[in-house]
Amino acid sequence: MKVLVVGGAGYIGSHTTYELIRAGHEVIVLDNLSTGSTENVHPQARFVWGDIRRKSDIVHVLNAEAQAGAPVEVAMHFAAKLIVPESVEQPLAYYENNVEGLRTMLEALVECGVKNIVFSSTAAVYGEPITPECDEGDATEPINPYGETKLACEKMIAWVGAAHDLNYCILRYFNVAGADASLKIGLDKDQLTHLIPLIMQAALGIREKLFIFGDDYDTPDGTCIRDYVHVTDLAQAHVLGAEYILNNKTSLLANLGSGSGFSVREVVDAARKLFEVPFEYAPRRPGDPAKLIARIERADKILKWKPQHNLQSILKSDYEFRKRRIG
Ligand SMILES: NC(=O)c1ccc[n+]([C@@H]2O[C@H](COP(=O)([O-])OP(=O)(O)OC[C@H]3O[C@@H](n4cnc5c(N)ncnc54)[C@H](O)[C@@H]3O)[C@@H](O)[C@H]2O)c1
Repeated sequence: MKVLVVGGAGYIGSHTTYELIRAGHEVIVLDNLSTGSTENVHPQARFVWGDIRRKSDIVHVLNAEAQAGAPVEVAMHFAAKLIVPESVEQPLAYYENNVEGLRTMLEALVECGVKNIVFSSTAAVYGEPITPECDEGDATEPINPYGETKLACEKMIAWVGAAHDLNYCILRYFNVAGADASLKIGLDKDQLTHLIPLIMQAALGIREKLFIFGDDYDTPDGTCIRDYVHVTDLAQAHVLGAEYILNNKTSLLANLGSGSGFSVREVVDAARKLFEVPFEYAPRRPGDPAKLIARIERADKILKWKPQHNLQSILKSDYEFRKRRIG
């Protein structure tokens, strides 16, 4: 299949491009390089600089492919802003890039007759979890502008899908980390406030230490339990999702996680088997639930997808990529 990967110069989009190419598909990456880099683009993918908020940028690529006789069959959307605290400070920038960006991109897809979209969503759409195991049918009540924009995008895709015969695959990720086995691509951004990036920053001396917020939760070791998924597993789910909607002319919304949880302390201890991690306990942060893991039966049943990497492999690849980047 021919796939347009929008945001393919970023972390998850670049890993998905690698998996698409490994599976024999053809990829065009469109990205405005606001947080991504051309270094992340697979050498066999074609790169086009463009911004999804400008319809002509997308239409231009889609029309050129169609005129050459092999139209784009699936579009994948990774082109979002995703830093939660920043979204609280600058909600309008998040609505503009994430919601208006997607609206413009959908208009281009409809205009050019592209019938399939794969969309990166997030567990942040659930907000405060009602149960420790998050199911796709659970209520969605985001607690920050980032989560709100992603939920607005999900709803927009479903409405546009119904009106214009567009198949969609919406994937809600839990905590994503790790790097491609080649170590050519990975995550080295320091603004992310997730546990594994923070562990890496403490290990590499980018921050003095890691703070573990709360050791008195109702969990075996008192620290919060979360779900971690390797970026390569996640990327492979996108390939399966795209093939599924294209071949079956249907739509799907599914969680992507590991389906099992690790406490913050367990993750830190697993990391300390591989490298030094200075850390200290700090008081609880408001709004952190004790336990949050994904139910992944739907992705398993429909896409036949099961994560292959364990926590050790997530931590090891993430660390090795970052060390190599630092030099
Ligand atoms: N990283 C995570 O932990 C995580 C978790 C859940 C969901 N997600 C979702 O996954 C997607 C990708 O996240 P990521 O971690 O790879 O982020 P990233 O910042 O590494 O990648 C985003 C890419 O999109 C590009 N981009 C942004 N706005 C654009 C625009 N207007 N036009 C064209 N290109 C644009 C950026 O330059 C970048 O290359 C996002 O939609 C995010 O909401 C990420």
